[in-house]
Amino acid sequence: MDRYAALAASPAGRTVLTRLGLPTPPVLRRHEPGQPLTAGPVLLAVADGGVLADAARAALTDAGAEVLHSDDGERRYGALVLDASGLTTTDSLTELHRLTSPVLRRLAGSGRVVVLAGRPQDQKDAEAAVVQRSLEGFTRSVGKEVGGRGSTAQLVRVAAGAEQRLASPLRFLVSARSAFVSGQVVEVGTDVQGPDAVDDWTAPLAGQVVAVTGASRGIGAAIARTAARDGATVVAIDVPAAASPLADLAAEVKGSWLALDVTSPDAADRIARHVRDEHGRLDVLVHNAGITRDRRLMNLREADWRSVIEVNLAAPLRITTALAADGVLGAGSRVVGVSSVAGIAGNNGQTNYATSKAGVIGLVDRLSADLAPRGITVNAVAPGFIETQMTAAVPVGIRQAGRRLASLGQGGEPVDVAETVLWLGSPASSGVTGNVVRVCGQALIGA
Ligand SMILES: NC(=O)c1ccc[n+]([C@@H]2O[C@H](COP(=O)([O-])OP(=O)(O)OC[C@H]3O[C@@H](n4cnc5c(N)ncnc54)[C@H](O)[C@@H]3O)[C@@H](O)[C@H]2O)c1
Repeated sequence: MDRYAALAASPAGRTVLTRLGLPTPPVLRRHEPGQPLTAGPVLLAVADGGVLADAARAALTDAGAEVLHSDDGERRYGALVLDASGLTTTDSLTELHRLTSPVLRRLAGSGRVVVLAGRPQDQKDAEAAVVQRSLEGFTRSVGKEVGGRGSTAQLVRVAAGAEQRLASPLRFLVSARSAFVSGQVVEVGTDVQGPDAVDDWTAPLAGQVVAVTGASRGIGAAIARTAARDGATVVAIDVPAAASPLADLAAEVKGSWLALDVTSPDAADRIARHVRDEHGRLDVLVHNAGITRDRRLMNLREADWRSVIEVNLAAPLRITTALAADGVLGAGSRVVGVSSVAGIAGNNGQTNYATSKAGVIGLVDRLSADLAPRGITVNAVAPGFIETQMTAAVPVGIRQAGRRLASLGQGGEPVDVAETVLWLGSPASSGVTGNVVRVCGQALIGA
């Protein structure tokens, strides 16, 4: 937590900041093993004609949530799940107001709003398609309204036929695991066959082998620790110069390690050999290794262009393609890339980085389609401002702006990115492919 957010988290500091009229970033509820799914009961509201409520109710009840179907005007809720899939006319959009407006002020801190919808392209007529598309503006605005209390809002679009695939996305989005994810649109589809649940949701990665590049520190180390917490066997990969912290991390998570520069021509072969020899398989491949070489384009050296493209984009593309061709990645495997909000919006002084990170989104688009018939999902996270050594090097003014200009009013922690990566990497997430999920606290920068 940065110093300002730490001050705001203390009672005395909060009083002082409030008196001065300064913003007080909320303390976010984060996942702890054994904790209830939500901070209070879940209100499941259904607009007329909704087709997703039954599946949502089953998923939430199975997760141990207390699900209520009508609002008594008094209760406080940990989450509001709204099935808006039945809205087909512009007139019916008034339902959004009727079902959410009275409830919103009774949403608990770090509460959740999840709007369930159909895909615009699946709608029968133009009006229905337009109405389903409009839910995005509604959801994003709700996220901005409730963010000051640490709450989030997301839109989940469910393709026709994917109604029974809601458990994994819904559990993630209503839980504390999605603490720093807000204003996102997640699509659930039928392109990839596979399971939609796990036997033990408290150890969703049990029996899985998860390889993470750039694992010796920062976000990569958090992914490795979080994967181990969730039951996975971890393969920690980083450059030879980081071998010592890498070996320590691998020992801590009881996994294995591989000192490897991902840009080396034999990187895919060495990963394949390592996972076969040490673990016999690979289930989840996380391309987290990344570098920045920031300079405005007019001052940028070609070498700094090349190295950023090589590490952040060319290596993940080459390694994924090779491991899929070689069968190391097969039915049920998951590939998760790490993009950036800079790859969505661009950033002054980061032409090389933003190009590479937009390329990661291209990798998701193309390889998710190519590998879907083989049962492999390909997704990415796009972090915003996360507190790591990478962002500690950012000039102080930009750093403060990066933290405050977000609905949640703070930077994220590496674990926030890790939770999202591992949700996408879960065996239960077969319905989620081709998605890029921002982990940015609904940052204005990059919007
Ligand atoms: N920190 C943020 O706010 C932020 C925001 C958006 C995206 N990201 C992305 O998240 C990822 C992790 O970022 P971080 O902040 O933890 O960075 P970091 O610099 O702390 O860690 C990156 C790790 O990647 C490793 N690495 C670099 N080049 C490598 C190579 N050729 N082969 C193998 N390993 C290599 C490094 O040794 C390091 O351990 C990166 O892809 C980064 O671009 C970070």
